[in-house]
Amino acid sequence: MNEQHLEPLRRHPEGRALRAEVDLGRVVRNLGRIRAAADGRSVWGVVKANAYGHGAVPVGRALEEAGIHGLAVSSLEEGLELRRGGIECPILVLGGLRPEALPAASAEGLSVAVVGPEHLADYARILPDHPVRLHLKLDTGMGRFGLLPSELGECLPHLQRLSPWLDGAMAHFATADDPDRGFAHRQRRVFDLCLAQLSDAGIEPAQRHHGNSDACLRGLLDQDTHVRPGLALFGLAMVPEGRALGLEPALELVAEVARVKAVPAGATVGYGRTFVAPHPLQIATLACGYADGYRRDLGNRAMVGFQERSFPVVGRISMDYLTVALPLDVAVAPGDPMVLYSADPVAPHSLERLAQTLGTIPYELACALHRRIVRRFFP
Ligand SMILES: Cc1ncc(COP(=O)(O)O)c(C=O)c1O
Repeated sequence: MNEQHLEPLRRHPEGRALRAEVDLGRVVRNLGRIRAAADGRSVWGVVKANAYGHGAVPVGRALEEAGIHGLAVSSLEEGLELRRGGIECPILVLGGLRPEALPAASAEGLSVAVVGPEHLADYARILPDHPVRLHLKLDTGMGRFGLLPSELGECLPHLQRLSPWLDGAMAHFATADDPDRGFAHRQRRVFDLCLAQLSDAGIEPAQRHHGNSDACLRGLLDQDTHVRPGLALFGLAMVPEGRALGLEPALELVAEVARVKAVPAGATVGYGRTFVAPHPLQIATLACGYADGYRRDLGNRAMVGFQERSFPVVGRISMDYLTVALPLDVAVAPGDPMVLYSADPVAPHSLERLAQTLGTIPYELACALHRRIVRRFFP
């Protein structure tokens, strides 16, 4: 990202000086890279959880303008948020819906994943009056949502009644990132057997999709017509193939310095006094804390970027603030921007590196970015 976005945020003088900078151009370029890796298959872009913290409506609009097939969300509410934001492309609710919610989905033109056998009869009763496009989810080994292969036979009569609305069959890999492809291949075989069983009953959904980001990056797509990437759209990847493809992280988290103070050796900082200044230094306080989604266990473990260098986060993270230690000779003043999450994947404060530090995945850190953080979008 260029440096101009690091200009001080124009805001109310009392406003919180914390913002997520989202480069939509990068999201769109990542879409192009994923399409190429998926040999041109159509893309359902997964934008649940506020587009993994990046901002669902602006990200969705950018992807729609870039000609994406559709967007996938977790819940009815997330789908409605996109429609209210003016998004017109297909939207698929991955988490399924109770029958009572079908009229609302129908009115807003939302597609819905059928995630279990329990509501099939109700669906068949409601859909003639409230048509909704359906994607049948099959549990090929993920073990959460979806009809089990053992349940398919007894569900076929209901599925035959639903087939006019059945656009797709889908499943989800449990181990797409695993160098050992054995289980992924097993899931694929189960998927194929289920599709054959459906076909024998005269049910031939036009779309089939099993692949998330890692499946796209690692060529686990087989006969699928569509793919369902999320993380890779945001330039974050769990597998080395993501970097090789040139995916670009799209988000930076930037906070302005709220206060700076010089402290003597022996001074302590924050709750619990977990940081003791080893020598005189400066402490910069930033208005970002665990209420913003910046994890409390990053205290005394993370770095932030400032003027092309990195400096340590010291002391405990509090609800709304964190503290950074800088040598006395570094010129730093209130209002200066510091980068908490860098878009440079190899920076010590990239989402991927921080996730590694915490023993978690970048998904968790990105999704946790609270809605109270101002998001600024760049084309
Ligand atoms: C059903 C389903 N499909 C696709 C995705 C996208 O996965 P990823 O972000 O790993 O690409 C998810 C994400 O959790 C999901 O639950």
